[in-house]
Formats: sequence, C-alpha cells, structure tokens
Amino acid sequence: MKKLIVACVFAVLPVLGMAAGGGVHLEKANIDLRDNASLQRGAKLFVNYCLSCHSAAYQRYNRMGRDIGLSDEQVKEHLMLASDKLGETMTIAMPTADAKKWFGNPPPDLSVIARARGVDWLYTYFKTFYIDESRPFGVNNKVFPDVGMPHVLWELEGMKKAVTRTDTDAEGNEHTVITGYEMVKPGSMNEAEYDQAARDLTAFLAYTGEPIQLKRQQIGVYVLIFLLFFFVVAYLLKKEYWKDVH
Ligand code: HEC
Repeated sequence: MKKLIVACVFAVLPVLGMAAGGGVHLEKANIDLRDNASLQRGAKLFVNYCLSCHSAAYQRYNRMGRDIGLSDEQVKEHLMLASDKLGETMTIAMPTADAKKWFGNPPPDLSVIARARGVDWLYTYFKTFYIDESRPFGVNNKVFPDVGMPHVLWELEGMKKAVTRTDTDAEGNEHTVITGYEMVKPGSMNEAEYDQAARDLTAFLAYTGEPIQLKRQQIGVYVLIFLLFFFVVAYLLKKEYWKDVH
C-alpha cells in the first residue's frame, strides 16, 4: 500500500512542476469550456486581434463554428475574411521570414499553445503586459520577460505601469519584483470586463488546442451514468443469485 501511495505521488509531481510555470505566480483562468457564449467571444477576439500575426493551422473555420454553436453563415459573417473558405484552416498571409525580421521571433502558431503553456499561464500573460520604454514595442510582460509581441489588447485593457519592489537575497544580489500595476491610460473596458475578455480568449485557445475535449467530457458523463445503471442491475442480480444460498 505504501509503495502505491509513493508511486501515486511521483506520478503527480511532474504535473505540479509544470503548473508552477517557472516560479512566477499565475492567476487562475477559471475557464468553462461548456460556455458557448464565452468561446464565441474568445473566437471573435482571436480573429480580430491575433490572426493578423498568429495562425491556428490545425483549426478549420467550419469545424470551429459547429463546435462552439455557430452556423456556417454566422462564422462567415463574423469570423472570416471574405477571401477565406469555410473548410480552410486559420492561417495567415505573413511570411515567416518577414515576421522574424519585424519581431525578432516569428509569432508561433497558436493551435496547441494552451497545451504547451497551460491555461493559467495564458490568462496571466494577457493580464500582465506593462509599459517598458526599453523594449521595441514599449511593453514588457511578467510571465514572458522581454516578449517580442506588442500589447495588442491595450485598447481594451488600457496601458499600465508596473509597481515594483527591490529585494536583496542572501548573496546580496538585488531582484526587482513586480507587486502590482497602476493604470496609466485606461482602455475601453473596466477591470472585470477585461478579465472576462482574457478568460474568453484563454477558453477559445484551450478549445482550439484540443477540440475533442468538449465531446470527451460529454462522453464521460454518459459513461458514468451507464456505470451507475449497471451497478444497480449487477447488485439486483447478485441478490437474486444468492437468495437461495443464504
Ligand atoms: C503584431 C503581431 C502580433 C499580434 C497581433 C499578436 N501576437 Fe502574439 N506574438 C507575436 C510575436 C512576434 C510573438 C513571439 C514573441 C517572442 O518569442 O518573443 C508572440 C507570442 C505570443 C505568445 C507566446 C508564445 C510562446 O512562445 O509561448 C502567445 C501566447 C501569443 N503571442 C498570443 C497572442 C494572442 C492571443 C493574440 C491576440 C490577442 C496575439 N498573440 C496577437 C506577435 C503578435
């Protein structure tokens, strides 16, 4: 038994390590993948603010529409450029070589980013852009230091500066730690609205990373219902068989 417990602990440890995200405190994304309205808002944000630089090359427009509760017409009208076709994947026109020249690093494909980084990391990433004049785009990011991406959602969130504290560790080295933010130029959303937007976007990216998970959760529920039903039948059967013995 002891061995089993130890084995379980070791099986779980790497997951905990991954979730820690390099020591920076991550905020909980609290996404709800069954919330179609949230996924639809996330898809809209993604198309409007991200698809100019990032692709989602494993995601087809029509499949996405069906999964998040939109008709083909709605997808066409709200989420696609006129030149794209429904069965096409969400790719972009920017050549990688140019992107590298402009941004230092090319914007990565975001199809599976939620699996690579985790949803809490993404949520925190969208919420921790701050003004840093020393950077090419004038912003830096708490969970992605020296990031090569502009704060594309600044019109919504606004621009904030970091409030910092300087700690000295045991060896006498100084570390600057971000303790909070101060809004310098407000955006069109208040804090709660922007939190929700960041959550919607994160939910959409989580869905895109694993479209089947919506269905899988549903199947899981059916399986549990079946097992419960089967348990009752098995129990009644057992009673019936043993009736004569006892
Ligand atoms: C103007 C172009 C541009 C736009 C628009 C843009 N990004 Fe980026 N993004 C980049 C670049 C360039 C990088 C790579 C940064 C680096 O490696 O330093 C990046 C990196 C990222 C990363 C980190 C990837 C990693 O390596 O883990 C995420 C997540 C991301 N972008 C999400 C988004 C989302 C979501 C949107 C829309 C709200 C968006 N980006 C809009 C250019 C852009």
